[in-house]
Amino acid sequence: MKKTFCLVFAGLFLMQAAACAQPIEPDLSAYGTAAPAEIPMEILGELDEETLADLVEEPKYVALTFDDGPRADTTSELLDGLLERGAAATFFVVGEQVPHNECLIRRMKSEGHQIGNHTYSHVRLKTADKDSVVEEIQKSEVLLREASGEGSFWLRPPYGAIDSQKAKLIKTPMIYWSVDPQDWKLLDSQKVVDAVLSTVQPGDIILLHDFYPTSVAAALEIIDRLREDGYAFVTVEELFRIQGVTPQPGVLYARPDRVRTLS
Ligand code: NI
Repeated sequence: MKKTFCLVFAGLFLMQAAACAQPIEPDLSAYGTAAPAEIPMEILGELDEETLADLVEEPKYVALTFDDGPRADTTSELLDGLLERGAAATFFVVGEQVPHNECLIRRMKSEGHQIGNHTYSHVRLKTADKDSVVEEIQKSEVLLREASGEGSFWLRPPYGAIDSQKAKLIKTPMIYWSVDPQDWKLLDSQKVVDAVLSTVQPGDIILLHDFYPTSVAAALEIIDRLREDGYAFVTVEELFRIQGVTPQPGVLYARPDRVRTLS
């Protein structure tokens, strides 16, 4: 913005100079070298602590991820809540649940969410043979592509479990998590909210399941509460981009800055 203004200003200055009988050569050396804005100490000194913290603090980003959907009622309710709040999320979808729920997949895509693959029938990839691993992933990809168009559907292995041999078959990055409130076990939205809020850090990938009404309620409250604390909600892909990390195929990430060692 500032740079555009400078260029427009420089342009006007040049036009004016051209109209003059004796053109003045503007000194453009100061333009294009703009450093990040610095707030002078005399201004900082007069601000109250809270405003100061807001100005100085780095933005805090986290990624909410939802596994095991889509489920018609709970996933639509979640999408409504995310839209209302302008929050993005990532959905690791189970392929066999895509038929009859294609409209939800299309909605995820059109509302700026990331769609990932959670295999076709939620298999344990560690114990499946190599052919089944490939088939489980491809079958799901075809359905996701038909519903939402071309894209790279990153994998979240069911149970977060995959070994190094099977990982070699995976052509996309793989996403684990760094915060797991065990929402599927608690089935209590308040307990899930508390479990997340007590551990969450900027850069975290939070694991939830859009399959449970209690998890949907918890997710929306987590957004409202963390927002008050300066957090913004982005897709997993965006979290990597913000942190300047290019995720590699076949590598399992707990966060953009943390890789899981595979056995
Ligand atoms: Ni799962």
